[in-house]
Formats: sequence, C-alpha cells, structure tokens
Amino acid sequence: MSGPTKDFVIVAIDGGAASGKSTSARALSERFHLLHVDTGSFYRGITAEFLRRGVAATDTDTVRGSLASLALATRLEGRSARMEIGGRVVPDAEIRSREVNDRVSHFAALPDVRNALLAYQRGQAGVARRHGFKGVVMEGRDIGSVIFPDADLRFFLQADPVERARRRASEGQQDSIVERDRLDSSRKTAPLACPPGAVSIDTTHLTPVEVVAQLAEAIAARLSPA
Ligand code: DC
Repeated sequence: MSGPTKDFVIVAIDGGAASGKSTSARALSERFHLLHVDTGSFYRGITAEFLRRGVAATDTDTVRGSLASLALATRLEGRSARMEIGGRVVPDAEIRSREVNDRVSHFAALPDVRNALLAYQRGQAGVARRHGFKGVVMEGRDIGSVIFPDADLRFFLQADPVERARRRASEGQQDSIVERDRLDSSRKTAPLACPPGAVSIDTTHLTPVEVVAQLAEAIAARLSPA
C-alpha cells in the first residue's frame, strides 16, 4: 500500500455486520476531513422504501421497474453523506428497524439493486471533491472489490460473531448478524469477502481506538499534509 502521497484519497473499509466499520470510518472522517459514506445505509434506505411501498424482494419485476423512479440524491449531514429518495432522507429509526435488518440482505442480493447503486456510490467521490473534503472513507461489503477496486487504501475488518452480536446488543439493536453475513457472503453478485490485496484486521480483541490507530497510520502515510 505504499506510494506517493496524494491530496485526495479513497479509503475502502469492508467487513461483516458490526465488525467495527462504522465506528472506524466516522473517526477517520473526522481526523482526516474525509467524506464518510456508509453504503449499508444506502441499501437500508432502498429496502425501507420498498417495504413502505409494499414491494417484496421476490417481486423482482416491480423492484426493477421502480428503481429508476427513486430519484436518488445526496445530502450532507456534517461529514456524512445521506441518501435522499425523492427528496426525503429516510430517518435512522426507519433504516435501523428490525424489519429492515431482516430484509436488507434480500434486496442487496438483487443485481438490479446493486447496479442502481453502483454509479451513485462512485459519484460520492465527486460530492467529496465539490465540498472540499480531502477524500472519501467508504464502508460496505464490496467497496474494495467492486466500487473502488483501485482505492488508495483497502481494509477488511473481521470479528468473532459472538463479539459482534454483543456490540449490536449494546447499541440496543436486534440483528441476526450470522444469518445476514451468511446471506451477504453466499450471494452471487459482489459477495462479502476480503478482496485480494486488502489489509485484513481482526477487531475481536481490539478497542475502537486501537483499530482507528492502525487505519490512521496507513492513511497518514498516503495523504499529503494540509
Ligand atoms: O453495513 P450494514 O449492516 O448497515 O449493511 C446492511 C446490509 O446492506 C448488509 O446486510 C448487506 C448490504 N450491503 C451490501 O450488500 N453492500 C454494501 N456495500 C453495503 C451493505
């Protein structure tokens, strides 16, 4: 991962549910003035919208037909990119609901849904440049493999499932992590996997501060000083 320093960097962080991606990405965005992009929230937003419309993931024709009409846009909230659907940001309470936790992997497995989000996700680099950020820290499942395979830095976070369930429960969330990871890892399109060449970190026994320190060291080596 060595190379010349740059004025604008793309940092990809992939990993399973509750592997430590969001906590790390938020801290890094603050530290280096990077746009924080949580792509899981995009899949969750689309899932919430389809649930609201009463469309099931098995109804692939309706899903395909509706995707073009979603009118996706981006709104900045602090250093984070929030997805707008038809001018509305789907509230956190809705995208983190039990129903969305249960359904999101089914919608995320559909190639049409992934295609609809591909250009939108890549476009976040332009959003970051336009707003004067020093880069993007994007978290998800396929960022270092599909969305930005040429990212300046690519990380893959892992943690023991028992520890991950404990983290989610401590956030007050009910989430079937093992089942979601199974679905996300076994789907045909862009499955969850550590992409070749990415730096893999096991966060089971690390504190968030320790994880961030490792990632920050690598970013500091690539990003030109302000
Ligand atoms: O990171 P998260 O748990 O909020 O992600 C929610 C779901 O979205 C996850 O179960 C799989 C899907 N997802 C995906 O398929 N690809 C991404 N880049 C991000 C999330």
